[in-house]
Amino acid sequence: MYVNHLRVEHYRNYESLDLGEFGHVNLLIGRNAQGKTNLLESLLVLALTKSHRTTKDKELIAFGSDHAVVSAQVEKKYGAVNLELRLSPQGKRAKINGLEQRKLSDFIGTLNVVMFAPEDLEIVKGTPGIRRRFLDMEIGQVQPSYLFHLQQYQKVLMQRNNLLKQAWGAGPEMGVMLEIWNEQLAEHGVKIIKKRKQFIRKLQKWAEQIHQGITGGLEKLELTYLPSFGEADEEDEAVLMQQFMIKLSQMKDQEIRRGMTLSGPHRDDLAFYINGNEAQVYGSQGQQRTTALSLKLAEIELIHEEIGEYPILLLDDVLSELDPYRQTQLIETFQSKVQTFITATGIESINASRLQDASIFHVQEGKINS
Ligand SMILES: Nc1ncnc2c1ncn2[C@@H]1O[C@H](COP(=O)(O)OP(=O)(O)OP(=O)(O)O)[C@@H](O)[C@H]1O
Ligand SMILES: [Mg+2]
Repeated sequence: MYVNHLRVEHYRNYESLDLGEFGHVNLLIGRNAQGKTNLLESLLVLALTKSHRTTKDKELIAFGSDHAVVSAQVEKKYGAVNLELRLSPQGKRAKINGLEQRKLSDFIGTLNVVMFAPEDLEIVKGTPGIRRRFLDMEIGQVQPSYLFHLQQYQKVLMQRNNLLKQAWGAGPEMGVMLEIWNEQLAEHGVKIIKKRKQFIRKLQKWAEQIHQGITGGLEKLELTYLPSFGEADEEDEAVLMQQFMIKLSQMKDQEIRRGMTLSGPHRDDLAFYINGNEAQVYGSQGQQRTTALSLKLAEIELIHEEIGEYPILLLDDVLSELDPYRQTQLIETFQSKVQTFITATGIESINASRLQDASIFHVQEGKINS
């Protein structure tokens, strides 16, 4: 897919912007704090309805404004679509070809993006919560039903936790209530776990191959789901359901004591192994970076495999961080296949000879000159 035209209004430091005629490779050049990342972020937000930098939508609205709009024309295999997302303190409203979508999950995934940003190192180095967020955002854009189950799961989880907080010393009716929540929690939880495991299995296939390429065959990358119950490779829903229910009954007393749900997809994690050693613990900075890079490149292929089209690629400040060999690997991967938006503070910081046909946009104080 291909973004033809982008319009943003009251978004971060952009008052109003109307940009067309994007190329296959687009370089956004500008000094610090001019709005380069903001522009990439607006495309990501249009795809996912969420930012990679914040969970607070309010931050996306320009200071002093009461709403923000991002819209774009996207060329897809079966024709052009117009996407519009409007953010305000009252919430988000999304339109496809002018038609308001009842559910955001009907909108998410119409535009597919893969973003590679400095923060991605945290997927390898950071907390389990960051890895779960990575999984949720990425699976959500290829499988809207995943987002439905995730939302339902979170709702049930909150209610179940509230009940657990009051459960200490309560009568038998509490046990009946808990049983009801257990079933609903497991129903949605199992779907989430299954989809995550499938996603990781597919991602692993591509990531291993790509990582091997980048490291000249020296490193074997493996991805493993770390579930809070059962085995990593179990994908049968009935088996998962049973395991989850057993786990919940085993944990009951402890959960009542602590007042919260202690197992389930909200407690799961993902681990990366390089030649058998956990990258988070033993990996060098460079290995961790390469792991994050392999993951992102793998996602491009995975999205293509799943939806039959390549996503667009957003590279924020990353080329200059990579050594020339990895820069070349990265550029060669996207150059022929995917429309790419790259930010840099100067053209000289990147291997520009490989980007001869790039369209160049100069970003300055929330305005753009091409
Ligand atoms: N809601 C907002 N309203 C107005 N301005 C904002 C808002 N959020 C962020 N900004 C401003 O946007 C500016 C540019 O941010 P951005 O992250 O896009 O810079 P950048 O060009 O990517 O810089 P760098 O090279 O340092 O990464 C910042 O100065 C910031 O203060
Ligand atoms: Mg930036």
